Amino acid sequence: ACCALLLLLGLCSAHGARARNVLLILADDGGFESGVYNNSAIATPHLDALARRSLIFRNAFTSVSSCSPSRASLLTGLPQVGAGGGEGEAPKAGEWGGRTRAQAFVKLVNKRGLRGGLLSKGGDPQSRKPLLFSYRPLPSSYRPLSSSHRPLPSTYRPLYSTYRPFFLYVAFHDPHRCGHSQPQYGAFCEKFGNGESGMGRIPDWTPQTYDPQDVQVPYFIPDTPAARADLAAQYTTIGRMDQGIGLVLQELREAGVLNDTLVIFTSDNGIPFPSGRTNLYWPGTAEPLLVSSPEHPRRWGQVSEAYVSLLDLTPTILDWFSIPYPSYAIFSSKTVQLTGRSLLPALESEPPWTTVFGSQSLHEVTMSYPMRSVRHQNFHLVHNLNFKMPFPIDQDFYVSPTFQDLLNRTRAGQPTGWYKDLHHYYYRERWELYDWSQDPHETQNLAADPHYAQLLEVLKTQLAKWQWETHDPWVCAPDGVLEEKLSPQCWPLHNEL
Ligand SMILES: *[C@@H]1O[C@H](CO)[C@@H](O)[C@H](O)[C@H]1NC(C)=O
Ligand SMILES: *[C@@H]1O[C@H](CO)[C@@H](O)[C@H](O)[C@H]1NC(C)=O
Ligand SMILES: *[C@@H]1O[C@H](CO)[C@@H](O)[C@H](O)[C@H]1NC(C)=O
Repeated sequence: ACCALLLLLGLCSAHGARARNVLLILADDGGFESGVYNNSAIATPHLDALARRSLIFRNAFTSVSSCSPSRASLLTGLPQVGAGGGEGEAPKAGEWGGRTRAQAFVKLVNKRGLRGGLLSKGGDPQSRKPLLFSYRPLPSSYRPLSSSHRPLPSTYRPLYSTYRPFFLYVAFHDPHRCGHSQPQYGAFCEKFGNGESGMGRIPDWTPQTYDPQDVQVPYFIPDTPAARADLAAQYTTIGRMDQGIGLVLQELREAGVLNDTLVIFTSDNGIPFPSGRTNLYWPGTAEPLLVSSPEHPRRWGQVSEAYVSLLDLTPTILDWFSIPYPSYAIFSSKTVQLTGRSLLPALESEPPWTTVFGSQSLHEVTMSYPMRSVRHQNFHLVHNLNFKMPFPIDQDFYVSPTFQDLLNRTRAGQPTGWYKDLHHYYYRERWELYDWSQDPHETQNLAADPHYAQLLEVLKTQLAKWQWETHDPWVCAPDGVLEEKLSPQCWPLHNEL
């Protein structure tokens, strides 16, 4: 029946009936808390098993450190300014900027005879309208509703059991914070579904709990009892996601399609801790990335050092499906150019890739703090366009035990146990330049050091070139204005910068 359907779609190609599918699994604010990334304090058997059949990227970065813009970017291959996610996080209404563009991506794969489905994170436990959508012509039964913090297999079964090839995007809500939205379930909603009184029960989840004494505290998180308890809660929700990933993979295995499916696991942005999400520093942008191709076993289980970007996922997926990137324009007249590249060659041999870019405008609507960045070899340059204002803090992070503890300790003049202080966290230099080989924690800003003047210019030029290529409206900020007619150029503001 399947082949008949594929024939109808003109897809039963000359080389036979095997269809290549894609499963893209996304964590929400996930980081390196997993066995595969050498965290021995947490148990993530399903991710670890996937890693044994994957190339493991150690230097993968999101281009934007905010949920909705990141998702828009990774489904379009465009940085947030072009992906329609430039407006940052969803306003209360629940719409998100990248939705239209992401739908365009699914439409694109649908047009080629594939069936795409997006299962986004969604829904609160009380089944508020979830941020999910499917793009027609998926059957109407494919209206994924997750009653838990992870999509239920029954919601995507209709997709892969009916359609080949398929593109399935499964985005977990775990391990996102909850203290701002549903504090009754714990700081990370770690209690939701655990069977305790009032928490409901997720039948196929066996909760793992962790002693705060046992967690690994990354360098950018204060080593305090409050932060350790916060991390222990986060670990529990990573376990919930890990078991969910196991269920998804088991479903595909039982349906006999896993061996025809490119499986990608990553996260949208850094973990919701200081210097993490909403920052372009390493903790805000470095992402776990596993790419598992049944056709490329050569590098299974190996670790790649190549610098890759989540902007590379769109070209990778299109390459896997042999779909040429379509020519279309954004902002009415500008032809879209993908700056990412397919990761498939990396599955054969280690590539010499050493550059990735970052672009952030805002997270919540009140948090305008545009930043642009380039990582090239050992160096990381960040341009803080609005450096005269304090770095903004989002509501979700603000109420976190880790940040509250940091505020309290700072106010009381007590030791914070943190590698930074709030003053320098809020007030940043316009240019920040770090040498990762000497200073992996990004604490010594070299931008004003004359020894690095030449390098600084090279990186600035590299960054500006990328901004022009991606039609970045901020390309002239903060000391100039972009005037586009007749030939786009920056005009000086004489604003003392
Ligand atoms: C984990 O640690 C081992 C031993 O130090 C190292 O070879 C490997 O590359 C590390 N894995 C990752 C993903 O960083
Ligand atoms: C899985 O796919 C690969 C590549 O297409 C093939 O070589 C292998 O035999 C398949 N394995 C199974 C169990 O079907
Ligand atoms: C911070 O201080 C406030 C006010 O004194 C207190 O209510 C709160 O529990 C403290 N939070 C933490 C995480 O220590």
